[in-house]
Amino acid sequence: MNVPQLDLNSLHAPLMEQLRTAIEEVLASGRFIGGPVLEAFEAEMAKLIGAPHAVAVSNGTDALVCALQALGVKPGDEVLTSPFTFFATTAAIVRLGATPVYVDIDPTNFGIKPERVYDYIDDGVVGGKKRSEFNSEHTKVRAIMPVHLYGQCTEMDPITELADQFSLMVVEDAAQAILSTYKERPAGLLGDAAGFSFYPSKNLGALGEGGLVTTDDELVAEQVKQIRNHGQTGPNVHEVVAGNYRMNAITAATLRVKAPHLVEWTEQRADAASRYHSLFEDKQLLDDVILPKVDKDRTVNWHQYVIRVDKRDELQAHLRQSGIDCQVYYPTPAHLQPCMRHLGYEAGDLPEAERAAQEVLSLPLFPGISPEQQDAVVTAVQEFFQSHR
Ligand SMILES: Cc1ncc(COP(=O)(O)O)c(C=O)c1O
Repeated sequence: MNVPQLDLNSLHAPLMEQLRTAIEEVLASGRFIGGPVLEAFEAEMAKLIGAPHAVAVSNGTDALVCALQALGVKPGDEVLTSPFTFFATTAAIVRLGATPVYVDIDPTNFGIKPERVYDYIDDGVVGGKKRSEFNSEHTKVRAIMPVHLYGQCTEMDPITELADQFSLMVVEDAAQAILSTYKERPAGLLGDAAGFSFYPSKNLGALGEGGLVTTDDELVAEQVKQIRNHGQTGPNVHEVVAGNYRMNAITAATLRVKAPHLVEWTEQRADAASRYHSLFEDKQLLDDVILPKVDKDRTVNWHQYVIRVDKRDELQAHLRQSGIDCQVYYPTPAHLQPCMRHLGYEAGDLPEAERAAQEVLSLPLFPGISPEQQDAVVTAVQEFFQSHR
């Protein structure tokens, strides 16, 4: 049986008529940027996420750039963040002229470990090395950017306490974490501002690119609105140099068709995740595979179902040969990317992130995945371990 990683066509099939109508309405309105459709979308997203303010932007990367810029991150600043994430997290920091400082992750939830953040702020130690041993000149820590990877929130309380103590800003990379919670609070409201992504494969995916900034601070929301529009504060008045980070109206209109289904789709993901758990248990694979664990004080939107295994690349090849698509998010941590070499990190500096990069494998998970498809996935994993123990 062939099992895709994700099945967007089946997800969109029952919505085709509504999607077409939404596109036609924008076409007829002649209003392609901004306007009532965009405003309605922002209001609906604020309500869905539970955020006082939501500002729609061009994509998730730009959402992070806008959030960082609105909070005052500027050239020369340092931003503490995770090396184990999609590269956009790093790119957003670098695009503002700031320097990412990578801290190691918690191997269970894959978010930055608060103790490691503390090590850096307090002692200037990162990955066991003193700050002065790195090529990058130490300037000033301005912000912390945790990433809620695979949809599970980072351990936020110690991070926000630290931020309060040292007057730092906290920007959540919530690109993958829509509708996830930490201590009953939503991702997107756990720091000063947050960036979400509507990349097509996200839990709420656009028919193209899209992003969102959430915040509980009206002033920050206003600044993001200016930043997304070239820093314009009035007709032909530009207070800051920023960019064109606007969302188009067709994207907003089509996301409005999909958004009302997100809670139900998230429940379907959760059901599929617990079915995987039972299947791995029933097939006695718990000594071979580390299953995802959710900390008790969190709910997860199951953006990815990620297992950890020693022989990851061999297992991935076997699954693919068996017709099962599965992906590695992400095989190279940001501190070891060629373009970040100048920062002076080396293999071994951030061992948990590096080990995770070698062991993680995302199995197919999407709303509507059938029990038979999931059984085929776990049976293929079982076949692999029967010949590789
Ligand atoms: C963790 C993380 N950060 C940032 C982004 C950037 O979002 P986008 O692709 O919409 O620019 C993504 C998604 O691709 C992501 O997964």
